Amino acid sequence: MNSQDYIAREDKYGAHNYHPLPVVLERGEGVYVWDVEGKKYFDFLSAYSAVNQGHCHPKIVGAMIEQAKKLTLTSRAFYNSNLGEYEEYITKYFGYDKVLPMNSGAEADETALKLCRKWAYKVKGIEDNKAKIIVCENNFHGRTITIISMSTDPDARKDYGPYTPGFEVIPYNDLNALEKALQDPNVAGFLVEPIQGEAGVFVPDEGYLKKSYELCKAKNVLFIADEVQSGIARTGRLLACDYEGVRPDILILGKALSGGTMPISAVLADDEIMLTIKPGEHGSTFGGNPIAAKVAIASLEVVKEEKLAENAEKLGKIFRQKMNDIKSDMIELVRGKGLLNAIIIRPKNGKTAWDVCLKMAENGLLAKPTHNHIIRFAPPLVINENQIAEACNIIKKSIFSFE
Ligand SMILES: Cc1ncc(COP(=O)(O)O)c(C=O)c1O
Repeated sequence: MNSQDYIAREDKYGAHNYHPLPVVLERGEGVYVWDVEGKKYFDFLSAYSAVNQGHCHPKIVGAMIEQAKKLTLTSRAFYNSNLGEYEEYITKYFGYDKVLPMNSGAEADETALKLCRKWAYKVKGIEDNKAKIIVCENNFHGRTITIISMSTDPDARKDYGPYTPGFEVIPYNDLNALEKALQDPNVAGFLVEPIQGEAGVFVPDEGYLKKSYELCKAKNVLFIADEVQSGIARTGRLLACDYEGVRPDILILGKALSGGTMPISAVLADDEIMLTIKPGEHGSTFGGNPIAAKVAIASLEVVKEEKLAENAEKLGKIFRQKMNDIKSDMIELVRGKGLLNAIIIRPKNGKTAWDVCLKMAENGLLAKPTHNHIIRFAPPLVINENQIAEACNIIKKSIFSFE
């Protein structure tokens, strides 16, 4: 079978809920992936920042295989001998009293919303069913009904109503709008991405997160950070919130918590918030399973052992510099932090960001457009300086091919 055969089979038997670049991958190692024809590519998407530790990291895969041979799943009907070790490890790692383990990012976001509402009724004292959560325009928190209910993206929402109530949408990076929305005494939480990834790597003004946090504190409102994409070293710090010294009341993590090996997500909070959820009130069959526990510890160890945040910060600066050095009117803007970056593409002779991505793939680098005119560049954080230089040459050559 060749690539076309694989694509045709997916097209025939799979739902058409994605529009992938026409490459069929079968192997990955570090910053590279290979397609079924044996062609090698730089992976500059990292499965939307899930593969921060690099493809098939031996330590993470090793932990996974070893545990898979011993015990895979108990459900939470019983204790397992790994979960407590993981809970202790991750809570100390990020500095919280407790963790609630889930699987996908969307589930972790849902968990955070439920936790916030529980806290609103049990601790803050908001009247039953009145709690409101403030969210931002152009947010991306996943694909469940409740999450798309607070989305402003028509593609995510259209024809999926009726929507879950209880959200107020305000513009991102707008402190006045936040201050105004916080006047409502029924507001329980403010859910925000420290950098909006899916929206096209939108970095807010310096001070936005800190000031938002302070505004929330003044009104006894929970500051909830969705670091599913921005967290775990991606932006040059362990958390993007670390840049402003903000410690979220509820922290949402996913993706790179497993180094891209399996769905692992987590919600972290202190006791006053976390203990409002009682036995039987929330859960997941697979959340906190014995393999996930071992894999998450290994994944977080790799981040520290290999100094991935430091590497992301340093190479991110080099990457943006090299992108800004490309003199092409197709590049409208370069933005990002650490190794979460984007280029806004100005179409030329009918050629769009999609065409640039096809050309880059031809030249050996994979990236994907978001919102038609933006290309996100997020390589595994194990990338080195020579590889960044080589990748930047591929991007440059691809863009110049449209001159
Ligand atoms: C900020 C953010 N939150 C949540 C999610 C949803 O994660 P998942 O696709 O694992 O449900 C994503 C996925 O891209 C994300 O970027």
